[in-house]
Amino acid sequence: MCGIFGIVTDKEQPLGPILLEAGRRLAYRGYDSVGCATLHADGAIDLRKDVGKVNEVAARLHFEEMTGTRGMTQLRWATFGKPSQVNSQPHLDSDGDLVGAHNGNVVNNAELREQFSAEGMTVRSTNDGESCVHAVERYVDQGYDMLQAIRHAYRDLEGDYSFIIGRVGEECLYAFKKGSGLVVGIGEGATFASSDLPSILPLTRHILRVRDGEIVVLRPEGAALYSVEDGLPIQREVEVITESMDWAVKGGYAHFMLKEIHEQPQVAAELLHLLEASEHVQPFVERMAGARNLYFIGCGTSYHACSLGAVYLAQAAGRSAIPILAPQFIPQYAPAVGPDDVGIFVSQSGETKDVLSALYAAQRRGMTALALVNVSGSTLMNESDHYLPLACGYEISVPATKTFTNQALAFLFLALRMGGRSTEALAPLPELLEQTLAQVEPQVAALEPQLVSHDDLYCLGYGLTYPIALEGALKLKEVTYAHCEGMLSTEFKHGPLSAVDEGYPVLFVVGQEDVPVIVSGINEIACRGGRTIAIGVEDARLRTNAQECITLPPSDPLLTPLLATLPLQLLSYRLGLARGYDPDFPRNLSKTLTVD
Ligand code: M6R
Repeated sequence: MCGIFGIVTDKEQPLGPILLEAGRRLAYRGYDSVGCATLHADGAIDLRKDVGKVNEVAARLHFEEMTGTRGMTQLRWATFGKPSQVNSQPHLDSDGDLVGAHNGNVVNNAELREQFSAEGMTVRSTNDGESCVHAVERYVDQGYDMLQAIRHAYRDLEGDYSFIIGRVGEECLYAFKKGSGLVVGIGEGATFASSDLPSILPLTRHILRVRDGEIVVLRPEGAALYSVEDGLPIQREVEVITESMDWAVKGGYAHFMLKEIHEQPQVAAELLHLLEASEHVQPFVERMAGARNLYFIGCGTSYHACSLGAVYLAQAAGRSAIPILAPQFIPQYAPAVGPDDVGIFVSQSGETKDVLSALYAAQRRGMTALALVNVSGSTLMNESDHYLPLACGYEISVPATKTFTNQALAFLFLALRMGGRSTEALAPLPELLEQTLAQVEPQVAALEPQLVSHDDLYCLGYGLTYPIALEGALKLKEVTYAHCEGMLSTEFKHGPLSAVDEGYPVLFVVGQEDVPVIVSGINEIACRGGRTIAIGVEDARLRTNAQECITLPPSDPLLTPLLATLPLQLLSYRLGLARGYDPDFPRNLSKTLTVD
């Protein structure tokens, strides 16, 4: 996830140290390259940028020496296009009068770049941040002032992004927000804008929150907001922030896990926009469609997404795929695969050793290796034949949450495309995720005291919800340290039923189409004194048979598994806390497992 920061001051001064500090504070978001630009009162722009870590690039390019009246820094998290010096941000316009940087994704970037080149502009990179600058240049060249040019540019730039831009010969910077974060800080003799609060708080506690569709004009003495729709000024009170930096880094949440759970509506929306516009989806789907055998390969949570992906593929495209844990792929399938087979390797980190070993084993046999990967510049991203980014930004908490949702969503998107079906059914998902969080939070809170002292439980599902039961059980184990087993609900009677006695808790994750089979599972447990909890869309049959119900908003049955994941994540979080553990850093675990 990229980060941006801009500063406007009342006199020429050293800006490098301030920009460098801001860059360091943005680094927790994850990035692959970094850049700084300063604008001098005499009209010169000093631009320095490259691939690498903040301290390393800053030392190499001497950021500390940079001076000016205005400046900006950007940390880039590549989605498409390899991290490179030219793709690093900020970017200049054709004749070097404008400089700008963005955060987020401009999804019609490829199309815009062609237009800009055809209009005679100098396009230097493939990065979408440069498109933000040219989109403004296009209208400045037609004689519009900066405010009007940004209003026009907004109509051309599709996607979720925010950007900061400055023009030679002026005294202000401009910032614009649509879908990605942007906050403004009002200091003494200086005004700041940033993609996130932690980079501003050490400089000022006076904050102006920018909303989508708003342009900010930053001057040394303050900031003015304008509506992109009608260009009219917007009045907003400045807030004074009293909380700690730690609170700000966690976005106001007590833990990264909770923050990342709540980011799911936003990251799902961003992924959908990205996939809808991406020229990389069609070749990906064609390779999947042409495969003799298709394998979905991952570990832990990523494997559960593979498992759900295989059910999606069967239901939405009528094709089968084999979901397999990466280490088991090596003895069970690698000896039999060849150039006609395709594997989709799924990983948040892109560095999991088990996944990379399976990748190399597959590549030795000539198999095509596709990837769904979150961390930009990771080994999996670099070594696979083609990849799609998961667009989740940095996931800090060890328990994977938002990356699971986007992995599963990417599979569903690919399955619909492969089945020749419209992906429009996915459009309501971000809103449904939002509604689900609001709806299930009190229900989960009410359940917590009933489960907190249990050290042993089951989580069962069927069909589309079987992988969710596996994922829910993994999350519960990981965060609460209790034993929780995920299982196909119909398998329970083949053995585990013997463990059930008075009050033994069993969670059921229910898809709308599988209520009858789940109800019989519920009854097998209820009549032996077990405690049954159903998670699903409101249904009289579940109400009558289960002791507790956590209800989800009604949705397309293909979306229900994604919604059902949220109460299990929240339940894990709450139970872990109630049992006295740190949900972000469970004992014995590591975010990225680079060992066998
Ligand atoms: O980075 P990866 O997706 O390859 O990681 C795979 C597993 O280690 C990971 O999903 C692990 O199971 C999570 N901590 C679960 O929350």
